[in-house]
Amino acid sequence: MNETASLRARAEIDLAALRANVRALRERAAGAQLMAVVKSDGYGHGAVRCAEAAREAGAAWLGTATPQEAFALRAAGLGGRIMCWLWTPGGPWREAVEADIDVSVSGLWALREVVAAAGAAGRPARVQLKADTGLGRNGCQPADWPELVGEALAAERAGHLRITGLWSHFACADEPGHPSIAAQLDVYRAMVAYAEKEGVEPEVRHIANSPATLTVPESHFDLVRTGIAMYGISPAPELGVPADFGLRPVMTLAASVALVKDAPAGHGVSYGHHYTTSAETTLGLVPVGYADGVPRHASGRGPVLIGGKVRTVAGRVAMDQFVVDLDGDRPEEGAEAVLFGPGDRGEPTAQDWAEAADTIAYEIVTRIGARVPRVYVDGAAGPAATDAAADRAAPEAPVTATRGVAR
Ligand SMILES: Cc1ncc(COP(=O)(O)O)c(C=O)c1O
Repeated sequence: MNETASLRARAEIDLAALRANVRALRERAAGAQLMAVVKSDGYGHGAVRCAEAAREAGAAWLGTATPQEAFALRAAGLGGRIMCWLWTPGGPWREAVEADIDVSVSGLWALREVVAAAGAAGRPARVQLKADTGLGRNGCQPADWPELVGEALAAERAGHLRITGLWSHFACADEPGHPSIAAQLDVYRAMVAYAEKEGVEPEVRHIANSPATLTVPESHFDLVRTGIAMYGISPAPELGVPADFGLRPVMTLAASVALVKDAPAGHGVSYGHHYTTSAETTLGLVPVGYADGVPRHASGRGPVLIGGKVRTVAGRVAMDQFVVDLDGDRPEEGAEAVLFGPGDRGEPTAQDWAEAADTIAYEIVTRIGARVPRVYVDGAAGPAATDAAADRAAPEAPVTATRGVAR
């Protein structure tokens, strides 16, 4: 048995797959730059390792939601362009200016705070103005755009900032043909045209997320911001499976079966006894639960591959563990239970878990808990290293994993 197989649980992160996905996305958006979106710890995959791999595959930009996520990338030694877009009043604008991070501004309060921070830092800020072209979330409404553009241009002319980008975000790009896609593009083009007519000279104009990158070529402009597709997951099953886009899932979530035992017919299983054995059988204990990100909502439904067969969670998912009915089979304790992965060994996918939990695959991978060590592998070569941050959060994990262990 190898070191990683002896872990209670592990999330294998295939960096070769991530690099190949970035290259595939760059080909699809040829002519545009690519921003690797690594917010929320790289959608649960580990922001720094994924950012490094994405850079190696040609991602010119890194994108985060919070400034703290952007600072963590800089602290890990990642240079080049980094943008972050989720700000609140009093945010660390000055640190962002000093760390050379592109900041997003959706309204006058933010513009004024960034101008003050640039003055304090003694250097111009890099600002990207965000337009609300129809998402109705962050971004500046068209009616308020002239005032924001005017004040930003005045600040640029005064040397406080440089307007590096004009950008927006789609509401329904994962629903092919949704009328809001064309409508948002029209509004975006008009808002960009207005700003450029006033004198803004953006380095990058961008609106495309993964689904738009894959299916709306006219949305690519200068830059595409890809998150979920870079992690090898289709943004929506209606758009296709990952392989349809030349993508491969990056994360495999596996655990070691902790106990196999006989159980008589009529035995209740797990909290609430929502499952009862219908005949004499064997039960297997899988030592991951909702604290690890296995959705409790998938109780009685989530799939897991054990001993070559896909089994179903029997009864409730608990905080640290769940049970499967092994139907008389007797895999050894320590056998691998694969909750999801690329799917080519017959294992379920994150999309299967999303369907079992009535959610989206984004949420499945992003919520995998800090207690689960991320084990970085490079294609079929096997584990390369276990993430140090995850090791700190997960005392059960080894510091490094053996190289070259077959998957
Ligand atoms: C502003 C912004 N851009 C890009 C993305 C990446 O989206 P996706 O994961 O669909 O590529 C996100 C993620 O939600 C986002 O919030």
